[in-house]
Amino acid sequence: MLLVRRPLVRCLVWFRHLSSAATVEVENEPCLNYLKGSEERQKVEEALKEMRSKTEEIPCVIGGEEIFTGDVHYQVCPHNHQHKLAKFHYASADHIRLAIDRALAIRAGWEKRPMAERADIFLEAARLLSEKYRYKMLAATMLGQGKNIQQAEIDAAAELIDFWRWNAKHSLDLQKQQPISTEGVTNSIIYRGLEGFVAAVSPFNFTAIGGNLSGAPALMGNVVLWKPSDTAMLSSWIAYNIMREAGVPEGVINFVPADGPTFGDAITSSPHLAGINFTGSVQTFQHLWRQVGQNLGLYKTFPRLVGECGGKNYHFVHSSADLESVANGTIRSAFEYGGQKCSACSRMYVPSSMWPKLKDELLTRVKEVKMGDADDFTTFISAVIDDKSFGRIKNWLEHAKSSSNLKVIAGGNCDDSRGYFVEPTIIETSDPKEKIMQEEIFGPVLTVYPYPDEKYREVLEMVNETSPFGLTGAVFAKDVNVVKEAHEILKMSAGNFYINDKSTGSVVMQQPFGGARLSGTNDKAGGPHYVLKFCSPQAIKESHVPLTDWKYGNMQA
Ligand SMILES: *[C@@H]1O[C@H](CO)[C@@H](O)[C@H](O)[C@H]1NC(C)=O
Ligand SMILES: *[C@@H]1O[C@H](CO)[C@@H](O)[C@H](O)[C@H]1NC(C)=O
Ligand SMILES: *[C@@H]1O[C@H](CO)[C@@H](O)[C@H](O)[C@H]1NC(C)=O
Ligand SMILES: *[C@@H]1O[C@H](CO)[C@@H](O)[C@H](O)[C@H]1NC(C)=O
Ligand SMILES: *[C@@H]1O[C@H](CO)[C@@H](O)[C@H](O)[C@H]1NC(C)=O
Repeated sequence: MLLVRRPLVRCLVWFRHLSSAATVEVENEPCLNYLKGSEERQKVEEALKEMRSKTEEIPCVIGGEEIFTGDVHYQVCPHNHQHKLAKFHYASADHIRLAIDRALAIRAGWEKRPMAERADIFLEAARLLSEKYRYKMLAATMLGQGKNIQQAEIDAAAELIDFWRWNAKHSLDLQKQQPISTEGVTNSIIYRGLEGFVAAVSPFNFTAIGGNLSGAPALMGNVVLWKPSDTAMLSSWIAYNIMREAGVPEGVINFVPADGPTFGDAITSSPHLAGINFTGSVQTFQHLWRQVGQNLGLYKTFPRLVGECGGKNYHFVHSSADLESVANGTIRSAFEYGGQKCSACSRMYVPSSMWPKLKDELLTRVKEVKMGDADDFTTFISAVIDDKSFGRIKNWLEHAKSSSNLKVIAGGNCDDSRGYFVEPTIIETSDPKEKIMQEEIFGPVLTVYPYPDEKYREVLEMVNETSPFGLTGAVFAKDVNVVKEAHEILKMSAGNFYINDKSTGSVVMQQPFGGARLSGTNDKAGGPHYVLKFCSPQAIKESHVPLTDWKYGNMQA
């Protein structure tokens, strides 16, 4: 803001002044293919084999001390729930308070380390994951979170490596964002960590989110309490240990698996809470926010609240759309990873004239979708994450079967005898306001509303007003005027908007991610400004000339 008031030459002065500041160039991690017979395929097979044969025991880690609390829980394999992949220990409220104390005790020392040193640690973490731990991490994500190899690779390897690298680069580049200086005065900004601790609550669906969510605030000089998801415990544990091995000092990130409400109560009742970074349900985020509100008088600073809470994402199809693109994009968006991405398409609007043909195309493709174990390399969709999720989706399927305005046209069955399997399901509705068009399902269930072609404007307005979320949405149309109009009407309905592309698959630094309304605080993870959320800049003015007067000219008699 300040910069625009000054001529360019001035800017050049401070650029020169800072030219010695550290920087680093990074690139996106390439994804491997895991083709039959390849070296990488063999390595991941070996890692899978080892992991299938044991149950890893995971403690809490508080100030570097590994604590086996005895409050034991298990992470099972979603496609085979008899297999216990990990045995982990919940932290009690006392453990969480201990973690806060230990974190605060080392905060100042960590915060004082130069950004370049902290960035180096995370670059090293990225290297370790890219080389030494890639296959172990993939196996843990496949067996533990039910991802097939391709979904595991883009998340647990490529994306997490990217996050650690890009974050390191951004933190260094941020240092170069400096105010201007004037005659006799030097101005500067330092980017401090927050005063207090940051609590990070990560979800099961992306290994990368967990590693990023705990790593990013640490990089910026914060101390962190990380509550990983029960159903992503093993991959979180691996990410945690990579950060330790890379040189994150003990106590900077504390690993505290815990019961959600116990964790929420303990962190929101500490006067030192400086920030919460949350991914999960609207209800839980609202609950945390309410608790923060109730304890407001207690805090030493205003806690920063960042939340991402899901969506009810749409594909809107116009009659000028390319039908095959719609079919291909929708299969991927709705069913990849069992629809358990916050950006997954779960409601679709199709012109009636196009519906019979598109329906055929979708049904043909759904028949080819292979459902199976996550560690079978030919699988497209595996089991959903756990029994709770399975039960919730099952209820939706029953609702669809028993409602007169809903018709199941593909899938509709589920079976949890061995794993939590739900068939990719397509439902046709005659009521665009049916609750299945409004509420988040978080499973492989797509509902389609065929609309009268000429009503497309009204339908666009309805798309905007049908759900309380505002995360992602896509418009398929070749007619450029339609695209323009659709974007105007749908402007507030999605934080990530796609034109002739599916509603999922945002890439770091390409489509910064996040949505408003009840989808969250839309802080745009994956963008350059995001780190600011987790630091507390200090502006410093230093005068080099004596202060020669205290009177102003107008005061002369
Ligand atoms: C906050 O959580 C999101 C996941 O919702 C994660 O991607 C992001 O990096 C986290 N940010 C920080 C600064 O911890
Ligand atoms: C991950 O899952 C949680 C639910 O546990 C959901 O709220 C969130 O939006 C999902 N995030 C992403 C990036 O898919
Ligand atoms: C859609 O997918 C099918 C099967 O993978 C492919 O043959 C077809 O070319 C795709 N259509 C378009 C428009 O890319
Ligand atoms: C979109 O929906 C919101 C919320 O219901 C409403 O306030 C707004 O006017 C709608 N926008 C358009 C362009 O219809
Ligand atoms: C990962 O964390 C960094 C730093 O907070 C942030 O800039 C980036 O957007 C995050 N990525 C995602 C997709 O959450």
